[in-house]
Amino acid sequence: MTAQEDVRKFGFVNQPIDSNIDLKSEILRMKKEKNAVILGHFYINPELQDISDYVGDSLQLAQMAAKTDAEIIVFLGVNFMGETAKIICPDKKVIIPDLNAGCSLADSCPADEFAKFIAEHPGHTVVSYINTTAAIKSMTDITVTSSNAKQIAESLPADEKIIFGPDKNLGGYINAQTGRSMVLWNGACHVHRRFDLEAILKLKEEHPGAKIIAHPECEKPVVIVADFVASTAGLLKYVKNNDAKEFIVVTESGILHQMRKAVPEKTLIPAPALDSTCGCNDCNFMKLNTLEKLYNCLKYEMPEITIPEDVREKAYRPIKRMLDVSAKLGL
Ligand code: 13P
Ligand code: SF4
Repeated sequence: MTAQEDVRKFGFVNQPIDSNIDLKSEILRMKKEKNAVILGHFYINPELQDISDYVGDSLQLAQMAAKTDAEIIVFLGVNFMGETAKIICPDKKVIIPDLNAGCSLADSCPADEFAKFIAEHPGHTVVSYINTTAAIKSMTDITVTSSNAKQIAESLPADEKIIFGPDKNLGGYINAQTGRSMVLWNGACHVHRRFDLEAILKLKEEHPGAKIIAHPECEKPVVIVADFVASTAGLLKYVKNNDAKEFIVVTESGILHQMRKAVPEKTLIPAPALDSTCGCNDCNFMKLNTLEKLYNCLKYEMPEITIPEDVREKAYRPIKRMLDVSAKLGL
């Protein structure tokens, strides 16, 4: 089977890899030879974070995509992140190791139903989370991420009526913070919604000095007990700057890698999922990225992200607006 047939059948290149080669040095060699940049999200496996040129949250990675002069962007994250990079950089080749790396939050917002929702709320500004498909972005007025959603909502006129989608948890949190008039799409992330509140409170009892820090995609009861709520980059900054010695980290466990590197002297306790066997909570989509798939992806330059140009053009407007407002706000 050819690499192309692999992609059609499996969603990734499944070509045999010579067991004698050193994957990491080959990846670095090909990256240089092909003028490629590797952008990795905080939730991918530690070895992939360590091989990335830049590791960040959704906003930082979109900003990096916008300013790279590499010819190929290899995105280690999930599909909507690769799509965002392609929307920003139509002339670059954007490749991801596995097309099966979806996102339950993006999937919770089908384009036809969201179009109906918008039609049912005339006169509303459509604010949507970056965790959406290109089709949803093409119906959006301004895109947000968890690190700029509050500031972007506040940058809109106070009486503006807002549709926020697809994450009801992030939307509810921003609504409570800003007091804006918002209608929320009823979507959620299957990872962040399954944190075990009782287990988190038990951890807090065992570590009374620990700060509970949570991502705003978590359910409201978890957000209420948290000492600090922020995007992945915001949580990382907090553990660096806060005086506490212990932190209960309520988001996907991949972020712990950068936290451990930044504050090796502090105790970082992953919060468990309800059905957890690892005592943590992993995004199965993020974890589809592996060193082997990255190697094949770079070697064969596929799977490639493609977006019909008419959709891409429309989807670019809310992203450009977000990047411009974020730059103006110094985010
Ligand atoms: P961040 O924007 O905080 O990186 O979050 C992305 C994400 O998918 C969280 O589940
Ligand atoms: Fe999507 Fe949730 Fe995974 Fe983030 S953690 S990529 S929101 S499924």
